[in-house]
Amino acid sequence: MIYPRIIAHRCGGALAPENTLAGLRLAARLGCRGVEFDAMLAADGVPVLIHDETLERTTSGRGDVAAMSSAQLVQLDAGRRHHPSFAGESVPTLEAALRLCAELGLWANVEIKPSAGQDLATGDAVARHAAAASGRIVLSSFSPEALGAAAAEAPQLRRALLVEAIPADWRERMLASGALALHASARALHAEEAQAVRAAGFPLACYTVNRRDDAERLFAQGVVAVFSDRPDLWQGSEM
Ligand code: G3P
Ligand code: MG
Repeated sequence: MIYPRIIAHRCGGALAPENTLAGLRLAARLGCRGVEFDAMLAADGVPVLIHDETLERTTSGRGDVAAMSSAQLVQLDAGRRHHPSFAGESVPTLEAALRLCAELGLWANVEIKPSAGQDLATGDAVARHAAAASGRIVLSSFSPEALGAAAAEAPQLRRALLVEAIPADWRERMLASGALALHASARALHAEEAQAVRAAGFPLACYTVNRRDDAERLFAQGVVAVFSDRPDLWQGSEM
C-alpha cells in the first residue's frame, strides 16, 4: 500500500471546517496528496461526512446524525461553527466527497465511523459507495465488525485497522479484519511496537501529529504516514 506522508485529518485539518468539501479544497491547495475523513450513516442509510454521532459540535443541527435523513443533513451548516467565513458549507455526502477527491487527485482514507449499533450497515454502505467511486481509496475503522462488512461488500478495497494503543494481539486482529495496514495513535506508540509492525511488512500510520519534529521522529521509527490537523506546516515541501 502506498501512503502519502502527510494526510490532512478530517479533510483539511484545523484550517477549514472538519469533514467538509471546503476542507478537501484547502488540502489540495496546500499541496496535500492525501486526506482522511469520517463517514457515518444518515437515517436513510446514505453515508455522510461527520465525526460525532451528534450534530451540535460541528453543525447548525441538533440531535443524532442517525435520526436525520441525508437530505436534511446536507441542508445543515457545517462551516459557521469553525468560522463565519465558512457559513453555508454543508455536511457532504460520501459520494460528493469521493467525487471531489477524484477531481482533485487526492488519495482518500475513508474512516468508517458507525453510530452505536450501526457497525455492519455502515461498513457495508461505505464500501459500496467507495467501490463505485474512482480514485485511490483506503477504508479504515476502529470497528472490526464494520471492516468485516466492508470486506464482504467490496473485498477489492484496501482496509486498515484503527487502534489507539497498539494491542498485544494486533496481528490477529488485523488478520481477522483483513486489514493490510495499521493506523494507531501517535501518543500511545512505542518504538518496539512500531518496529514489530514494520518488520511484519504492514504500513503503520499515526494520528494526530501536529508538529513537524514529532512527525520526523515517527518517520525515523518507520511510520509511513501521519494524519495532521496542520498540513500547512509542510506547505512547500514534499507531502
Ligand atoms: O483515522 C485517524 C483518526 O481520524 C482517528 O481518530 O477521532 O479523529 O476520527 P478521529
Ligand atoms: Mg477520523
